[in-house]
Amino acid sequence: MEMYQTLRPLLFKCDAEKMHHLSLKALKALRALPFGDDVLLRFCAYGDESLAQEILGLRFYNPIGLAAGFDKDGRYVKALTTLGFGHLELGTITKIPQNGNPKPRLFRHENEQSLQNAMGFNNLGSIAATTKLKSLYPFCIPLGINIGKNKDITEEDAALNYQKTLEDMLEVGDYYTFNLSSPNTPNLRDLQNEKFVESLFTMAAQKTQKPLFLKIAPDMDRDFALSVCERALDSGASGIIATNTTTDTSLIANPKHGGISGAALCEKSREMFAAVAKALRKTHKNAIFISVGGIADAKEAYSRIKLGASLVQVYTGLVYQGPSLCAKINRELSALLKADGFDSIAQAVGADL
Ligand SMILES: Cc1cc2nc3c(=O)[nH]c(=O)nc-3n(C[C@H](O)[C@H](O)[C@H](O)COP(=O)(O)O)c2cc1C
Repeated sequence: MEMYQTLRPLLFKCDAEKMHHLSLKALKALRALPFGDDVLLRFCAYGDESLAQEILGLRFYNPIGLAAGFDKDGRYVKALTTLGFGHLELGTITKIPQNGNPKPRLFRHENEQSLQNAMGFNNLGSIAATTKLKSLYPFCIPLGINIGKNKDITEEDAALNYQKTLEDMLEVGDYYTFNLSSPNTPNLRDLQNEKFVESLFTMAAQKTQKPLFLKIAPDMDRDFALSVCERALDSGASGIIATNTTTDTSLIANPKHGGISGAALCEKSREMFAAVAKALRKTHKNAIFISVGGIADAKEAYSRIKLGASLVQVYTGLVYQGPSLCAKINRELSALLKADGFDSIAQAVGADL
């Protein structure tokens, strides 16, 4: 799979969004070949008992998950599983189907190993996604459903909009993430306030006993973020996912429009994650923290785990490193654990706090 590095300059000549869809279709086609799955799993998956965890009643074979936005409608669940992920977060899914923002809306910043996107929750809607996922569910690895708000829904109607999507998808998720942090839906981030998260998680906890997460932006004031996360946990959230993309365009030499992900986001995301995990692990002992933002190697994944992440997620790293990313991170992670004398990931979670 080092072939990906060789092919990358060629692949990167194509428009970023078109390439994304082409790659997923190619992966699907590869699986359809005789022994396709076996070949993919051989190169992309790495199994080691020290990487496995039981979290909130779910079995995670390894701590590396695919971040939301990569498979918005759950169309590539089986194909993406052959890349060795421990879980997949699908979505963002909204109640009503949406086309998203005008194209082009996905940009590469190669010098910074980063992406910038202004997708705007393009997705087929909760009914179509549920129909698709029902044929798979229950699946062999945990599937998270990331839920967002439709663009034209006002703040007053937002809670009901989230509720309807959750209700449509109650049978087909292993956990649910409420995304209040995409920068590409006008005013979405305004919902990151204590009053709204309390009503959202109180409602959701009445609808399902499955784990519920809040996904936050890296751009919030630190103390404000802590109080919003704390309120979410007090109102029924099982944990926090930090972070979404950043709107801080100073991190990129030639910014386009939309949220920035990848290496340029790494430090900002790590800092927000560390602050949230450090403060809230003390007060909410059972809370689960998931770190995402700029993770593209085992060293960074391990540092997030030691800062309190039970799980980590990747998106941009996969675009730059290719399909062997999970296997590489997992193989090196298990070596890092052994070198530090840990028998399991669970022992390393929060070791640096
Ligand atoms: C093209 C693209 C689309 C994304 N779409 C979503 C989305 O629909 N919902 C969401 O919660 N996050 C979305 N994200 C954010 C990622 O899930 C992740 O939080 C962010 O990219 C930081 O991780 P990374 O640096 O590993 O990419 C998207 C990111 C990218 C690059």
